Amino acid sequence: MKDLAPRKEELDPIEIASRDEIAALQLERLKWSLAHAYGNVPHYKKSFDAAGVHPDDLKTLADLAKFPFTVKSDLRDNYPFGMFAVPREKVARMHASSGTTGKPTVVGYTKNDIEVWAQMVARSMRASGTRPGDVVHVAYGYGLFTGGLGAHYGAEKLGCTVVPVSGGMTARQVTLIEDFRPTTIMVTPSYMLSILDEYRAQGLDPRQSPLQVGIFGAEPWTNAMRAEIEQDFDMHAVDIYGLSEVMGPGVANECVETKDGLHIWEDHFYPEIIDPVTGEPVADGEKGELVFTSLSKEAFPIIRYRTRDLTRLLPGTARSMRRMEKITGRSDDMMILRGVNVFPTQIEEQILAVDGLAPHFQVELMRQGRMDEMIVHVEADPAHAAAEARAACGADLCQRIKDTVGVTVRVDVCDPASVVRSQGKAQRVLDNRPKG
Ligand code: DLL
Repeated sequence: MKDLAPRKEELDPIEIASRDEIAALQLERLKWSLAHAYGNVPHYKKSFDAAGVHPDDLKTLADLAKFPFTVKSDLRDNYPFGMFAVPREKVARMHASSGTTGKPTVVGYTKNDIEVWAQMVARSMRASGTRPGDVVHVAYGYGLFTGGLGAHYGAEKLGCTVVPVSGGMTARQVTLIEDFRPTTIMVTPSYMLSILDEYRAQGLDPRQSPLQVGIFGAEPWTNAMRAEIEQDFDMHAVDIYGLSEVMGPGVANECVETKDGLHIWEDHFYPEIIDPVTGEPVADGEKGELVFTSLSKEAFPIIRYRTRDLTRLLPGTARSMRRMEKITGRSDDMMILRGVNVFPTQIEEQILAVDGLAPHFQVELMRQGRMDEMIVHVEADPAHAAAEARAACGADLCQRIKDTVGVTVRVDVCDPASVVRSQGKAQRVLDNRPKG
């Protein structure tokens, strides 16, 4: 793989500024953002008043902890435009997350918000090793989902040639990669695996593809998956994070030269980690729930938003801005099996350690009598599809999960190509326990 690290001169000065400079900028912007939310969004006025705090009470960054959290249901309760802080005519674009129940969550952007968003995605892409003039294949979905358009505007901002493919039609994805010769692909890691299968189905060697960088996000994925994709495609696999409530992709990104967690673009997003039970902030380095406050957003300021994503904050390395560790999972995805917390990423890690299993899997939860049971459905690698090989792989996986995660699960090693493929975010958990 090529050394694609950007030169220092290519970076935004704030990316490598001193911590003092970053903190000073954050404090100034945080004061603005709190006042902007309080002055223009009735929800924030009400919630700050109820908590007995006023934007003027913020004298230091630590004072932010006095302010109330914002949660997903606040956004739903103010559907569709109640959380907007500017008149509707000033909103240049809306996005929405599908939401599994009821109404979607709607977010809005002014022209300036879209400009900042494009800058943050361009910065993320540069950190990933993409350069002006590169051809970029965008296979994140276009539409209300922030992935496609977010990546698109960022790639244009960086000065790339964008191929806006969106998700789906996997055979065509491969044809376009082979014919248009992109060096960067932006796609969910699970869909990248479908593209990998398609390469093989077409008899092509993925290591000979033109791709040099993959910018993967929108769902949790492990370092084991990174190693697999880097090996199979002979390319760099870099992690990008974001969420629509805070902006979209480009809130944080790894650096290609270190791949040691995602630098949070702290000049626009202020991170905290809290104890999910008590709501108290924890020290950097401790694990908990990630909370974000926007520092510059005009149309949709967001104050102390509880993401439900679990991670920890680490000091800067390749950049001065703090890193978040690769996300273990969302608190919503956490399964509790006989008292043990289990995340799909832990299962993924073990699957990738077993020679003979393909990285396509789903975890099914069932109830047997009064006990919850977990079945891991995972595909056999085509070369290990014979019954004997499958049984050995299944036993191996079962033992590894027991040893590392601490739970006994059932493993179903199924036929190659039998686990449903994702074209965007993969659905890892099937909860078939009786409701209620
Ligand atoms: O997934 C935005 C995005 C698009 C990010 C493309 C990266 C690339 P939402 O649909 O609102 O937005 O979903 C946000 O997805 O709270 C996390 O749970 C999860 N997520 C996003 N990026 C990562 C990542 C987009 N790199 C939710 N690792 C977030 C783990 C991620 N989880």
